[in-house]
Amino acid sequence: MKCTATANSNIALIKYWGKADDKLFLPTNSNLSITLEGLNSHTTVDFSSDYKEDMVNIDGKNMEGEKKEKVVKQLNLIRNIANSNLKAKVVSKNNFPSAAGMASSASGFAALTVAACASLGMNLDKKQLSIISRQGSGSSCRSIYGGYVEWVKGKKSEGSYAVKVADENYFDIRDVIAIVEQEEKKVSSRAGMAETIKTCPLYKSRVDAAEDNLLKIKRAIKEKDFSEIGKIAEFDCLLMHATMIATIPSLLYWSPATIKIIKLVQEWREEGLESYFTIDAGPNVHILTLPENEKEIVKRLREINDVKDIKSCKIGGDAALTEKHLF
Ligand code: PMV
Repeated sequence: MKCTATANSNIALIKYWGKADDKLFLPTNSNLSITLEGLNSHTTVDFSSDYKEDMVNIDGKNMEGEKKEKVVKQLNLIRNIANSNLKAKVVSKNNFPSAAGMASSASGFAALTVAACASLGMNLDKKQLSIISRQGSGSSCRSIYGGYVEWVKGKKSEGSYAVKVADENYFDIRDVIAIVEQEEKKVSSRAGMAETIKTCPLYKSRVDAAEDNLLKIKRAIKEKDFSEIGKIAEFDCLLMHATMIATIPSLLYWSPATIKIIKLVQEWREEGLESYFTIDAGPNVHILTLPENEKEIVKRLREINDVKDIKSCKIGGDAALTEKHLF
């Protein structure tokens, strides 16, 4: 049966950087993100006896090698659970540049998981979908839900899943993304985090701090305290990047434009334009702000030459099935 799903990307406010179990994708610390409206993956999956092998097409290109393997591995996991040996055709489109710190793997694996499970007739709840999605790409488990979403680290596979902390309508904050580079990053998150665990002596301290910051940010979300949310998110981002930079060899994902924007955000804040930055494993800067400041921030970013594109996102909703098939 042909099934199609859409899922939004997400940006972590408390980051996931490192696995306690590489095979099961268990993170070393629980983490939390907001789902981003309008940055989505749209994926159609068809399992059928008509196909002799799996076919994967992303953004108009037939995938081969490592990229195809990651998708096939996820299809295998789902086939195993469903006890099926049917091959699949997968067609997916992202409406944003992939692999430049904009988490296309998060929305991509969430949409793939929802569509593939439905295509094999599995009727799973969101918790189960997040457990399956997690094993394709860790951060994708959070994209199963909209709103403010925690990934509970767990100690075994069934205990590591996403939960909705607050709905997308609970507290309206915005993520204005300054895109300074659109190319794929040189070191993937998967490879980078493994190196950090192996070589960075600061790693353990950051994990401890992240658990503490997670408790604090959940309280701040509950209280709708934007300043506190922003401060904690920025601090956790810097803690993660500190461990990345102090990895051997160093993982410096920032470009000069990234630092320029970090400094501007600090200046704007001093001026009273309240905003905070967070950055994933890439050079692009996500600026967290309140709805009333969004326009002014977009206007200021437009004046910066290094900013190649700007995406402004509200908090988005759950991954969902749709009838809009891609083939
Ligand atoms: O799930 P991955 O392999 O795309 O890793 C995500 C890592 C970060 O984006 C840097 C942080 C996060 O929690 O999303």
